[in-house]
Amino acid sequence: MNKPNMFDAKKRNGHKPVYYDYENIDYDFGLGKKYFVRTYGCQMNEHDSERIKGLLRRCGYSESDSYESADIVILNTCAIRENAHDKVFGFLGALKSLKRKKSDLIIGLCGCMAQEESVVDSILSKYKFVDFVCGTHNIDKIPSIINEVIKSNKMQVEVLSYEGDVYEGIPVIRDSKYSAWVDIIYGCDKFCTYCIVPYTRGTQRSRKYEEIVKEVKELVKLGYKEVTLLGQNVNAYGKDLYDNYNLANLLNDVADTGIERVRFVTSHPWDFTDEMIEVIAGRDNVMPYIHLPVQSGSNKILKLMNRRYTKEEYLTLYNKLRNSVKNASITTDIIVGFPGETEEDFNETLELVNECKFDGAFTFAFSPRENTPASYLKETVSEDEKLDRLHRLNALVNKYSNEANKRLEGTVVKCLVTGESEKDDSKVCGYTENMKLVNIVADKSAIGKIIDVKITSAKSFSLDGEYIKTHELVNN
Ligand code: 5AD
Ligand code: SF4
Repeated sequence: MNKPNMFDAKKRNGHKPVYYDYENIDYDFGLGKKYFVRTYGCQMNEHDSERIKGLLRRCGYSESDSYESADIVILNTCAIRENAHDKVFGFLGALKSLKRKKSDLIIGLCGCMAQEESVVDSILSKYKFVDFVCGTHNIDKIPSIINEVIKSNKMQVEVLSYEGDVYEGIPVIRDSKYSAWVDIIYGCDKFCTYCIVPYTRGTQRSRKYEEIVKEVKELVKLGYKEVTLLGQNVNAYGKDLYDNYNLANLLNDVADTGIERVRFVTSHPWDFTDEMIEVIAGRDNVMPYIHLPVQSGSNKILKLMNRRYTKEEYLTLYNKLRNSVKNASITTDIIVGFPGETEEDFNETLELVNECKFDGAFTFAFSPRENTPASYLKETVSEDEKLDRLHRLNALVNKYSNEANKRLEGTVVKCLVTGESEKDDSKVCGYTENMKLVNIVADKSAIGKIIDVKITSAKSFSLDGEYIKTHELVNN
C-alpha cells in the first residue's frame, strides 16, 4: 500500500523528471467484460480518462453505455472544490448498492482526490467496497493494480506523492475524432494559496517538444482538425527543460504540422510573453482564444492569493492581447469570497469585469482545500454572502458574454462541426475559432468539417447560424 502524503507532495527539491516510455504488459482479464469511466473536473482529467480507457482496452475490456452494466467502474476525480468531492462520494453511494447485487464488480478511484490523505483515509475506513485507489502519477500502473485486485481480492492503494515523471506512449482512446487533447506540461509550481493542484499534480514538467510535434503529426494523419495543448499553466512550457524553447516556439512548430486549428489552455498571466502574443496574432491556425484567469480585481486579494501580478499588470497584458490579436475571445476564472474579501474588494472585481468585458468567465465560490495556505486563513465571507456575490458577478459576466455574442450577428465565421446539436437534433453544432458554441442549420455530412457559418442570432451562451460553405484547407 502506498498512501498519499501531502507534505511530500508539496516538496520542490529540484527533482529531474525521468522520461519513460510506457511498457505494455499483456493482461487479458478484461476479455468479454465492460468498463465505465466517469470523469470529473478539467480537460487534463478528460484526457487522463482517455488514457485510462486505452489501458482498459489493452486488458480486453470494451466500453459500456451505463455503469449499471459495467464490470469495472472507474471514477477519475477532481479535488479543486468541495462540490467536486460531494459528487464523487454521492456516486460511490450508488455504486455501493450496485456492488451488493454484483459482488464481482470492480470499483476504482483515480485522479486528484486519490492524492488527498483525508480522502484515502475515508475510503479505507468508510468505503471499504472500493477495490483500488490510484493517484495521478501512476495511471500507467492501472492494469497491474487491477490484476492484483483480481488475484488478492484485497483493496489496493497505490498513490505516489512526489514531484513526478513524464510518460510517453500510454495507449489512448480519444472521445472525439476531430478535436484532440495533447498534454504539453504537467503539474504546477505557482502555489496559488487556494489551489490544491500543485499538491495533486506535482512539479511543473514539460514533455519534450519532439514528442508533442510527433503526436500532432500523427493526429493530422488520422484526420484530426484541431488540437488543444493542455497544461495547468501552458505558458511555463519548456522552462524546466530548455534554455531557448518556449510556448511561442512550440506553437510555431505545432502550427507548422498543418493541423487546421491549435489552441491552448490554461495560461497564467505571469508567464505570458510578447513573443507568444506575436505567434498567436501571426499564425492563421493558432486560434484567437485565450483563457486568462484573473481570480480577483483587488490587489489585496491577489496578493493573499499569491497570484504574482497586480490588477494593473493584468490589465496591461489584457489590453495588449486585445489590441494585438484580431477577433480574440478572452475568457477568465474568478473566485469570490476568498478569506478577507470585503464588499469593496468584490466591487473592484466587478469594476475589472466592466473594464475587460470578458467573452465569458468561470466563476467560483472560494472553497478551502486540504493543506493549502488559504485553508488556514479565517473565512470572513459567509456561504450566503459568497452566493450573493456569485449571483451579482454572474449577472455582469452574462451581460458581457451576451454583448460579445451579439456583435457576431450577421457575420460569417469558421466553425469546426463536432456533432449533432444537443438542443435540436435536426441541427449540428460546432465551435468558432474563438470557441463560441454555434447551433447550425446544416446537413449532418458537415460533422467533422470546418465550415463557414452565417450567424443568424445570438444568445447568452450560444449562437445560431446557417451553413454557407465548407472551408478550404488553411495554407500555412
Ligand atoms: N476554491 C474556489 N475556486 C478554486 N479554483 C481553484 N481552487 C479553488 C478553490 N479552492 C478555481 C480557480 C481556477 C479554476 C480552475 O478553479 O479559479 O482558475
Ligand atoms: Fe492552481 Fe495557481 Fe497552478 Fe492554476 S496556476 S493550477 S490556480 S496553483
